[in-house]
Amino acid sequence: MSSSSGVISTVIVIVMVLVIMIVIGLRRRAEAIRNNAHLSEFLTTTMDKFLHDMAKEKPIRFTSQQLRIATDNFTNLLGSGGFGAVYKGVFNNETTVAVKVLNGTSDKRIEQQFMAEVGTIGRVHHFNLVRLYGFCFERNLRALVYEYMMNGSLDKFLFGEQKILLGFEKLHEIAIATAKGIAYLHEECQHRIIHYDIKPGNILLDANFFPKVADFGLAKLCNRENTHVTMTGGRGTPGYAAPELWMPYPVTHKCDVYSFGMLLFEIIGRRRNLDTELPESQEWFPRWVWSNIENGDLGQLMEVCKIDDKNRETTERTIKTALWCVQYRPELRPLMSMVVKMLEGAVEIPAPSNPFGHLLVETQIPNNSIFANTTWTESKSTSDLTESKLICATPEIEAACSSA
Ligand SMILES: Nc1ncnc2c1ncn2[C@@H]1O[C@H](COP(=O)(O)OP(=O)(O)O)[C@@H](O)[C@H]1O
Ligand SMILES: [Mg+2]
Repeated sequence: MSSSSGVISTVIVIVMVLVIMIVIGLRRRAEAIRNNAHLSEFLTTTMDKFLHDMAKEKPIRFTSQQLRIATDNFTNLLGSGGFGAVYKGVFNNETTVAVKVLNGTSDKRIEQQFMAEVGTIGRVHHFNLVRLYGFCFERNLRALVYEYMMNGSLDKFLFGEQKILLGFEKLHEIAIATAKGIAYLHEECQHRIIHYDIKPGNILLDANFFPKVADFGLAKLCNRENTHVTMTGGRGTPGYAAPELWMPYPVTHKCDVYSFGMLLFEIIGRRRNLDTELPESQEWFPRWVWSNIENGDLGQLMEVCKIDDKNRETTERTIKTALWCVQYRPELRPLMSMVVKMLEGAVEIPAPSNPFGHLLVETQIPNNSIFANTTWTESKSTSDLTESKLICATPEIEAACSSA
């Protein structure tokens, strides 16, 4: 009797242990399932957010009807340029935009190419680049929808009636920030973007006068008319276009560096580089600047440009940077990231050589120039720009030279 009750109690204990183990096992499984559910819920939310963000990055496709409503039937003209006219618009009473209506008609055959280019431009984000929100590609309307830049383009503040509004320091900040925007296009984008049309009209200012570079990526998208040079495939604006854009030489990102240099001269002078109203020696500002540097005295320049003496060092730095940027040989021009450092005073700037020498005398530009090894130059250039005859960089410069 006692042995059978011992067996029963042992069996009961074993059964109880088994039951407890099963219960614990089931609980653990339930907990694991619950944790997995949380994890997958978490992953789904993150994924949704990611996809949503991705969608936001993608430029939006608008219908012509939507743009017509937003722009009040294209009534508020902000300006017009080589690509077409730009109108102010508002979406949902809250987001102000600039709608650029592109010249020409939409051809269905180029729709894919258009969308691919717009897709690339729309994904380029930098504080100093104007944001592309979206586009329209319909038979009757091809347009780009940009973030609205309240203070318009820089030319107004350099040459227009609002010339005195921005002081020397602010203009210097604008030059540095613009250089940062271009450096991003050249050096940080997955695929390098060459702007081809850097000029004051394409530097836009927001409500706080922070500059953003506009129209990048457009050279690939459109053929320009009127104001733009058509000789070599429709790139660049006279006065800012690098010499290689006018000649049968390879064109690289260094053509933007050249245009930026021309812009720097205009920032220093607060005048258009070419002004035929001025005394002959000052007609073409960059060469007059060079003659001042060559004489080693910036006094007259500071006076003519109405620059305060406290800004002498920054002026000299900016001028030297501009002279390096407009060097005739592209490989002598610095990279834009180096231009930023030069303008910020973070590097010592060596004395530039005369960028306009080839305009005046028959020159053999030495291949082993002492400047060719300057720290910012890249490895050997793809082009051989050695010249043995007189070359005038652009028709505009040629005109300025022949009158001097
Ligand atoms: N995003 C924008 N926000 C505000 N104004 C703009 C914008 N884009 C262009 N504009 C204005 O429209 C004018 C014409 O622009 P555009 O067609 O690019 O010609 P361009 O670059 O040759 O001056 C600019 O000079 C500027 O005043
Ligand atoms: Mg523009």
